[in-house]
Amino acid sequence: MSPVSMKIENGIATVTIDHPPVNALSGKVRNELHQLMEKIGKDSSIRAGLMTTTGRTFVAGADISEMDNRPEVPELYDTFDLIEGSVFPWVAVIHGYALGGGLELAMACHKRIAAPGTMLGLPEVNIGLLPGAAGTVRLPRLVPFKDAVDMVTTGKPVNAKKALELGLIDAIAEKDLMAEALALAEKAAAAGEPRRLMDLPVRETPDAETLAAAEAEVRKSARGQDAPMENFDCIRDAVTLPAREALANEQVRIHKLLDSEQAKALRYMFMSERHTARPEGMEKHPPAELNRVGVVGGGLMGAGIATALMLAGIAVTLVERDADAANAARERVASTLGASLKRGLISQAGYDRAMADFVTSSDYAAFSHADAVIEAVFENMDVKRDVFRQLDAVTKPDAVLASNTSYLDVNQIAEVVKDPSRVIGLHFFSPAHVMKLLEIVRTDTSSLKTLSTSFSLAKKLKKTPVVAGVCDGFIGNRTMSAYRRDADFMLEEGVLPQEVDAAMKKFGFPMGIYEMQDMAGLDINWGRRKREAPTRDPSIRYSSIADRICELGRYGQKTGAGWYSYEDGARKGTPDPIVEKIILEESARHGFTRKPMTSDEIMARILGNMQSEGQKILDEGIALQPSDIDVVMVLGYGFPRYRGGPMYLANKR
Ligand code: NAI
Repeated sequence: MSPVSMKIENGIATVTIDHPPVNALSGKVRNELHQLMEKIGKDSSIRAGLMTTTGRTFVAGADISEMDNRPEVPELYDTFDLIEGSVFPWVAVIHGYALGGGLELAMACHKRIAAPGTMLGLPEVNIGLLPGAAGTVRLPRLVPFKDAVDMVTTGKPVNAKKALELGLIDAIAEKDLMAEALALAEKAAAAGEPRRLMDLPVRETPDAETLAAAEAEVRKSARGQDAPMENFDCIRDAVTLPAREALANEQVRIHKLLDSEQAKALRYMFMSERHTARPEGMEKHPPAELNRVGVVGGGLMGAGIATALMLAGIAVTLVERDADAANAARERVASTLGASLKRGLISQAGYDRAMADFVTSSDYAAFSHADAVIEAVFENMDVKRDVFRQLDAVTKPDAVLASNTSYLDVNQIAEVVKDPSRVIGLHFFSPAHVMKLLEIVRTDTSSLKTLSTSFSLAKKLKKTPVVAGVCDGFIGNRTMSAYRRDADFMLEEGVLPQEVDAAMKKFGFPMGIYEMQDMAGLDINWGRRKREAPTRDPSIRYSSIADRICELGRYGQKTGAGWYSYEDGARKGTPDPIVEKIILEESARHGFTRKPMTSDEIMARILGNMQSEGQKILDEGIALQPSDIDVVMVLGYGFPRYRGGPMYLANKR
């Protein structure tokens, strides 16, 4: 069946794009649209046209799966030129999403009307591209300069109300989108010659100072990515050059970006996130309902997890050690959820309902109605096993019991439950209501039903699920521990923490491994190392630098000192001679002649370490596919998304 159809009634042409699921502009759609526009664009018997789509959305973008092998079809901007150049006006009739090529199509039309709640945006920057079908030229002819820059460089969509305010659309339908679109089309037809954006001046011509300030801002947030700057350059050209010249430059830039390494890596990440591995056979097991979920422990993670559940509309029961701790947890959750309310992430009614349904207690019996319980108490095996014994006694026999442990053996936790098939690890990342990753740790006994319910929970929380097997630290923390350990060896061999951190930031990490440890606190890992000390194999290389730093009571930012010192509560640390002294002493003690390393050498070593640990993780079956490791490192550990993850880079070598 043809994805593009047309009917003409009373001199009004209605074109309908019907290409499920999201009416993406695939090669076939583009070809047919182009042919149709060539055929009818000069037909003066048509008074006006309506550009519509079927299903749940307008055109939600290009077809990303076609970008590596691009189909031979007319250039999209040519097709849009035909639409804009038509002798009669076109009205874009928008509902759901108008994203990327979809919004460019709407801008090629002469009028735009949207259903309430429609989202409109140009997210190409997120996959390393720019709106390359004259989108960057038309946009500043509709909206103010600063808003045009924001839309293309951040990729963030705007809602219909904002779009109307900005001038991006002409109307929001009040009742009946099609009827009101038709009225708009009649009005445009009566007004005579269609209003063609490419022939119109821009909304605002910024002065040199405004341009320079906007450029500096984009450069700062781009942090090594090419696409935000290329997007900015396009808007700058659009507001300073004639439209056709700006378009020619946009075309050069989009073709350069399409084949760039960054865009390829970003497309890979886009696909990898959407296709994380699913355990075999899970599809045969429908997930359990999740109306009420319990959380044990209302500290940093427990409170964050409770907030995440509430934001997804799930009722929460939280149990703490005593009444005071339960009250403190309640306040912590109310404050985080309140911040989400302020940011518009939950409605007032949603907030009120979540807080009214929120049960806090110091009695485990409160979990008797929970469909699942997530434990987030101290990282200690005995404490966790004790919690699971209590959960076993009070919960419904089929409720999923999950541990948010960072490193511990979830098999050993499952042992204490009569039916261990309902036990699983659900490893959230901090802040749990913000971070998009959920590692689902499958034990030897987790049932497919338990897995299926865990995947369903991830979906409700809008998180990306990655399955991991049981091992020390699962996929993410195990990989991080490996390169952190090796980074300490690099310190012994000749570099300083600030050099490692600088190399990582230059590569694109938001912070280096030592800054990160100072932020998270050094004491937890120190505790772990002390517990492991009696059984540690003395023939395996071990660095004592971190231990010596902790022995001085330097646990990171919270104690004012760690790998760096933080004077008077400063958030940014400064290198500390005491730390350097310890490092030099440890170098000497192990007999190293210190050799400096360049930042590229440091980063190559960190990357090599991530990759060899990643390979072990795959060989042991802990991760099911290489791209799952990349998703974990990018979503959970700050690996720069535009580089595609360590395993992606290993494959490309
Ligand atoms: P936390 O110390 O902030 O919170 C733990 C809470 O559990 C405390 O409020 C404590 O009162 C409560 N608690 C202890 N025993 C309890 C019991 N028997 N019954 C009820 N409540 C009890 O610790 P945090 O950072 O929230 O960590 C919790 C768990 O999450 C740990 O297993 C940790 O490894 C894991 N985790 C931590 C991450 C982080 O970034 N901090 C990230 C991912 C996982």
